[in-house]
Amino acid sequence: MCGIVAYVGGQQAAPLLVEGLGRLEYRGYDSTGLAVLTPSAAPKVVRTVGRVRDLKEALPKRFAGTIGIGHTRWATHGPATYANTHPHASASGRILVVHNGILDNAAALRQRLADDGVSLASDTDTEALAHLIERADGDTLEKKVLAALHQVTGTYAIAVLSADHPDRVIVARNGSPLVLGVGQREMFAASDVGALVRHTSQIVHLEDGEVATVTADGFLTFTLDAATVSKSPETIDLSPDELEIGGHSHFMHKEIWEQPETLERMLIGRLDERFATARLDGLRLEPRELRAFTRVKILGCGSAYYVGQVGASMIEDLARIPADAEAASEFRYRNPIVEPDTLYVAVSQSGETADTLFAVREIQRKGGRVIGLINVVGSSIARACDGGVYLHAGPEIAVASTKALTHMGVGFALLALMLGRVHDLSYADGARILAGLRRLPGQISEILAEEQAYALAARRLARASSMFFLGRVRGYPVAREGAQKLKEVSYLHAEAYQSSELKHGPLALISEDLPSVAVIPDDDLLDRNLGTVHEIQARRGPILAVTHPGVELPGSVEALVVPKNEPELDPILLTIPLQLLAYHAALALGHDIDRPRNLAKSVTVE
Ligand code: F6R
Repeated sequence: MCGIVAYVGGQQAAPLLVEGLGRLEYRGYDSTGLAVLTPSAAPKVVRTVGRVRDLKEALPKRFAGTIGIGHTRWATHGPATYANTHPHASASGRILVVHNGILDNAAALRQRLADDGVSLASDTDTEALAHLIERADGDTLEKKVLAALHQVTGTYAIAVLSADHPDRVIVARNGSPLVLGVGQREMFAASDVGALVRHTSQIVHLEDGEVATVTADGFLTFTLDAATVSKSPETIDLSPDELEIGGHSHFMHKEIWEQPETLERMLIGRLDERFATARLDGLRLEPRELRAFTRVKILGCGSAYYVGQVGASMIEDLARIPADAEAASEFRYRNPIVEPDTLYVAVSQSGETADTLFAVREIQRKGGRVIGLINVVGSSIARACDGGVYLHAGPEIAVASTKALTHMGVGFALLALMLGRVHDLSYADGARILAGLRRLPGQISEILAEEQAYALAARRLARASSMFFLGRVRGYPVAREGAQKLKEVSYLHAEAYQSSELKHGPLALISEDLPSVAVIPDDDLLDRNLGTVHEIQARRGPILAVTHPGVELPGSVEALVVPKNEPELDPILLTIPLQLLAYHAALALGHDIDRPRNLAKSVTVE
C-alpha cells in the first residue's frame, strides 16, 4: 500500500527513484509520480495513473536533478486520478510532499485552507499537508514541517522537498513504515528496505514520532518536539538476488517453489534433538515463564489469521492449553479483555499490517505480553512485540502470500512444540514432531513435482464461476486459505465452509455447476469427511479432493494426493496444492497474478 522513495546525492535522482518505485510495486498501487530538484530551477514533477513503467516512459529526456522524491499511490482519499497522484505541491509549487498513511483530520484541514482562500487541486489529505508546510511559521524547512505535523492527526510516512532548500529531504514517520539507507556521499529513504538493497546495506529504522533531515552527507534525526535522537545504521542481511524473479514467470510461482529451501533454512538451529523440543531464543521467555501461560491468543489478518487458526489447533493438540485465533482487525475494535496469564501472538508476513500493529499496542497498553511470528526483520510489528520468532521466508513479492504462510505454519509448530514440552508432551511425541518437521521440505518438493496435475485440475476448476472449499476441524483453516488464495488471484468466487456445517444451509447450493474442493486428510475424521463427499455426490456436485495416499474415494471424485506427515503438521502440506490450484487457475484466466486488482501487499492503513 503506498510506497515512498527519496534520494539525495551525486547521481541523477529520477532513474534511481524509478528503480526504487519498481521495487515497491508489489505493495500495491494505482498511480505513481516523482519530483526532482536542481539548486537553480523550479521542481520538476511527473505523475501518471498507471504503472511504474508508464512513469518511466513519461519522463522527459531532460530531467536533471540529484535530489528527489517518488511515490506509488493506493487510493484512499479520492479516486486514482492524475490530480490525486503524488507528489502534491503547495500553492507556490515550491514545496512537494509524498505521503503514505491517512490523515484523520484531513476534511477539517482542507476546509480551513479553503476558508483561507487556498485553492485545492486534489481530493487528497496529502495536499493539505503541502499547503500547511508552506504556510507554517519557521525559518528552516525542518521547523515548518514540524509546525505542520503538529496540526495533523492520523498516520503518515512523508518525504518533503523544498525548492528553497535544495540540499535536503525531510522525512517523518508516524504509524507508516520508513527507513533511511546510508550510502557513500548519498542517502536514500524508502517505505521498505527492498527499494534500497541494490544501493546499500546500511539501514536506519525511524520510529513513530521521529523526523529526519536527509542530505548527501548524512542524516539528523529528531522528535516532533525537535529534540535530537541519535541513531546508528544497522547492516541488513538481504541479497538483491532474492528480489529477482529468476527463471519463473511470476513471483508467486517462484515463491511457491522456494518453499523447500526456505523451510530448510528456517529450521536450522531451531530443532533441539536432545530434549525433543524447539529452540526459539527470540521469545525471550524462560521455561518457567512459558509454563505459566494458561491460554494462547493469536492475532493476524487475512491469510495470517487462517494460519493462526492452524497454529491454535497445534497448540491445543501439543500443549493442551486453550488457544484460539482472531482477526486482529476485529479484536482491536471490541475492547478486548486482556489477561495476564495469556500469551498473545501476533502473526504477520510484512510486519506492517496496521490492524495487527494496533492490536499489539492495545494488548500492551493493557499490560499483556505479545510475541510476534513475523517475516520482515526490523518491521514495525517485530519491533513492537516483546519477543518473537522471525520466519526467515525471505522477501515475498507476490501480493498473494504463499511461502510466508507456510513458514508461519512451521513457526506455530515450533511454538506449540516448545509449549508442549514445558507442559505434558512426552519426549517421544516431541521427537515425533521434530521428525515430521524435518520431513516437510522434502515432502513439499514431492508435491511440487506433481505441478502439472495441479495445473490440469486448476484449468478445469477455472471454468466454474463459483465454488466451495470444505474442511473439518484442522482442515477448515486450510479450506479458508484455499478459497482466499483462489479469490485473490483468479477473481473466481470461492466460499470456505466447515464440512460439518454444509447440511445446515449451504447444501442448498450444491449442483452440477458448483464444484467443491474438499480437504480430506487421512485422520480420525476421515469417515465424517467421506460422509460429506456422499452428501455432495448425491446432489451431483463435482468434487476435487485434496487427500492422503490410501484414502478410498468414490470413483468420480478427482483426487490430488499429497504425502502424509504427522496429523498436527498435515495442514501445512495440505495447503501447498491449494497454492498451485490458485496460481494455475489465475494463469489459465490470464490475470495479473503478482499484482491482483484492488489488493496491496502491506496493508498499512486501517
Ligand atoms: C493473502 C494475504 C493477506 C495477508 C494479510 C495480512 O494472500 O496476503 O490476506 O495475509 O493482509 O498481511 P500480513 O501477513 O503482512 O500481516
